[in-house]
Amino acid sequence: TIKACLFDLDGVIVDTAVYHYKAWKQLANSLGFDFTEHQNEQLKGVSRVRSLQLILGWGGVTKTEAEQEQLATLKNTWYVEMISRMKPDEVLPGAKQFVEDCRNAGLKTALGSASKNSMMILEKINMVNLFDAIIDGNKVSKAKPDPEVFLKGAEAVGVQPNECVVFEDAIAGIEAAIAGGMKSVGIGSADVLGKANLVVSGLSEMTLERLMGL
Ligand code: G6P
Ligand code: MG
Repeated sequence: TIKACLFDLDGVIVDTAVYHYKAWKQLANSLGFDFTEHQNEQLKGVSRVRSLQLILGWGGVTKTEAEQEQLATLKNTWYVEMISRMKPDEVLPGAKQFVEDCRNAGLKTALGSASKNSMMILEKINMVNLFDAIIDGNKVSKAKPDPEVFLKGAEAVGVQPNECVVFEDAIAGIEAAIAGGMKSVGIGSADVLGKANLVVSGLSEMTLERLMGL
């Protein structure tokens, strides 16, 4: 039986992907190159430092570790500026409702995100209190597809991995769920997320009935 739902943040609860893209694009442009929206897909669910390394690779630019740290910090400054203006209506359709439905049904809810800005975003959209546990980029050392973030979430809410369902928009996140022995629901297209137990276009398509049928 399913006892907990573990949610990724970016691309599942809220569409911050556009802000990440804008900020990374601004950084690439400042270094004299550009990258496509298609390339941006590869950054979903990927940590800040790893994203920077991929982008530098696309631009054929080499930077020392110290320079990389400065660039990642600069990107984050721009990103934080954008999300500091986020409004509660930027929650993705159906997301808040589904998390509330889960809680009303007695299920535990947890956040499992690579983002170190998770708390600020949850505050902006008034959803901090809808999670029994918040595991973010400040609490994990191994990035998805390593299952660490979700295993910590399961442990924090006192539920076994095989009683958890993970909601993810990134392939690395679905792989993390599988590696952790959890069920998963992909948010996006089945072409990309085919490994998940179920794929929906957004949480507005999710119901408790569909959840329990997994
Ligand atoms: C999520 C996003 C990634 C982002 C990562 C780290 O996984 O999908 O695009 O790079 O979090 O976010 P942060 O806010 O810590 O830079
Ligand atoms: Mg995501």
